[in-house]
Amino acid sequence: MAEQKEQDLNTWTDVEKVIFQRRSIRAFKKDPLPDFMIRRILEAGRFAPSAGNAQPWKFVVVNSPEILAEMEKDAVRIAKIMMWFLDYTRSRIRQLFLKPISKLFIWLYHNELHPVPMGLLQRISMNKAPVFHHAPTLILLMEDRRGVSRPAIDIGICGQNMVLTAHSLGAGSCWIGLIKLLMYYPKWRKFFGVQYPYRLEVCLALGWPKVPADGPVPREVQIVHWFEKSLNDAPRIETQGESYE
Ligand SMILES: Cc1cc2nc3c(=O)[nH]c(=O)nc-3n(C[C@H](O)[C@H](O)[C@H](O)COP(=O)(O)O)c2cc1C
Repeated sequence: MAEQKEQDLNTWTDVEKVIFQRRSIRAFKKDPLPDFMIRRILEAGRFAPSAGNAQPWKFVVVNSPEILAEMEKDAVRIAKIMMWFLDYTRSRIRQLFLKPISKLFIWLYHNELHPVPMGLLQRISMNKAPVFHHAPTLILLMEDRRGVSRPAIDIGICGQNMVLTAHSLGAGSCWIGLIKLLMYYPKWRKFFGVQYPYRLEVCLALGWPKVPADGPVPREVQIVHWFEKSLNDAPRIETQGESYE
């Protein structure tokens, strides 16, 4: 699929090129992006569409090495505490006592404790992966809960405008949902002013990519139903996209 896409490169619009070539970047150079670039990225977020044009967001830029280091330290600390309670595979005693409790939590919070973030959380707790990828800048996307309909959707669109703009400017970015770890600390909620109406569930790591990104990660083939005839006709079913294999 990647090769096919490369072949089609000439036929892509500039927007498609940015969409298909953007990758999450998880290794950054130490030097931060210049402020004017960060402002351009913020501007792309500011211009995002939102339900009722409510613009239910507030942006916070963090590029202080001291604050970033403290955020990383505290996020890792919480990851360790969480994994201490949730990782029942470490010993037989844990299997006996913790397994039912962990299973219950995993069932109750199946989005948060999905195997993918859990796997990452485990690596973080073992100091094998960083939370914020040592990015020199974070943009926190604070969600204003008073927004129209589902403000979280608006936050997603706003952030996507930002990451696509970052890529188009030659910068690297990565969404970081694990910033939620810091929300367990009253200290950080106070520091960033995360109280009603605001909620902080995601941020963007930004900087210059240290190494070129790998190829795209696989996307599932989608089964799409096309309703094209009458109410009585069954939809035509088409597969969208190609598999990697
Ligand atoms: C809402 C959201 C939260 C994410 N949180 C994290 C995160 O905490 N850490 C991380 O390394 N990647 C995170 N990602 C990045 C995804 O893992 C990545 O987008 C996905 O694997 C697809 O890869 P690609 O962005 O290179 O196309 C997040 C992505 C989204 C959209």
